[in-house]
Amino acid sequence: MSPHNLNSVFIVLFSILLCQLGVDSQLQVGFYTSSCFAAEFVVKEEVRKGFIGNPGVAAGLVRLHFHDCFVRGCDASVLIDSTDSNTAEKDAPANNPSLRGFEVIDNAKARLESICKGVVSCADIVAFAARDSIEITGGLGYDVPAGRKDGRVSVASDTFTNLPPPTFNVNQLTQLFANKGFTQEEMVTLSGGHTIGRSHCGAFSNRLYSFNATSTQDPSLDPSYAAQLKKQCPQGNTNPNLVVAMNPSSPVTTDVGYYTDILANRGLFTSDQTLLTNSATANQVKQNARDPFLWNRKFAAAMVKMGRLGVLTGNAGEIRENCRVFN
Ligand code: HEM
Ligand SMILES: *[C@@H]1O[C@H](CO)[C@@H](O)[C@H](O)[C@H]1NC(C)=O
Repeated sequence: MSPHNLNSVFIVLFSILLCQLGVDSQLQVGFYTSSCFAAEFVVKEEVRKGFIGNPGVAAGLVRLHFHDCFVRGCDASVLIDSTDSNTAEKDAPANNPSLRGFEVIDNAKARLESICKGVVSCADIVAFAARDSIEITGGLGYDVPAGRKDGRVSVASDTFTNLPPPTFNVNQLTQLFANKGFTQEEMVTLSGGHTIGRSHCGAFSNRLYSFNATSTQDPSLDPSYAAQLKKQCPQGNTNPNLVVAMNPSSPVTTDVGYYTDILANRGLFTSDQTLLTNSATANQVKQNARDPFLWNRKFAAAMVKMGRLGVLTGNAGEIRENCRVFN
């Protein structure tokens, strides 16, 4: 056996050993370097185009990755269109009509199919696009381990227990994120995703008009912010298109505005403001607000970790031809 072959044998044995030890060697940074060199550039370019057309798509794409990964793993199940016989994830109340950014994924996929047919998965495109969206809005860029395959199942009801509603309190959030393998601190870190984007009125209108038996308005909400939100979301207005900015002072910038909002009792959702009701999470909110670099690093690491949830690799799953339909 030549030294070169011996080397290869060792590499294979070492890889098997790492797998046995549970070290994640399934996804790799630079996964498409030899199979489709332009893959990450094409996605970045399409995110840029989408962002120029509408800066809100950056927030949409970050949320798309979150909603993909928390439901059946990061397998692009969130991109599947419903059919006569199946209501898919994207048509669950948590996603429809609020989820956005699908066209950016479609555009990237169309270009990648034309230059590297059948090579780049939709799940990886979503993961790259989320990273690029964080970067383009001023957050810290990070390497995205890739090699995900696309799943073959997308069912609306899977979202019910896997995605957190905006009414959750800190214990419920901690439990739901723990179910996905995240610490409470990582939950606080990832919640910082709400530094960009918008929300429809329905996600928080209970805090303005029907809080509880003794108080119509949530006492933990800053009164002047509540007054502003009431103007933007008039009681009884059923227009489903009404939206407000999440971090009104910088809704298109990935910064620590989310945490400074919470400290000013201006967290938009119950699930945001509740982070002050627990001493550990309140301390993390304060620390993140004070130290943008710390939060940016923790956020990037938590996004990478989120991107590993339940991934299909190797022979599992498929590379979809069209991200909206199974092959
Ligand atoms: C902690 C529990 C979470 C809850 C309860 C929650 C809930 C929500 C809700 C209700 C909206 C408003 C959607 C709309 O009406 O348009 C929203 C938007 C958003 N969420 Fe979350 N979310 C959570 C965690 C996360 C995480 C972990 C991320 C990403 C790391 C994230 C990123 C976003 C983004 C970027 C938007 C804005 C979307 C847009 O502008 O289109 N969220 N979230
Ligand atoms: C309503 O909410 C306030 C503030 O959170 C709380 O002090 C009060 O006990 C609640 N009342 C009821 C009836 O739940």
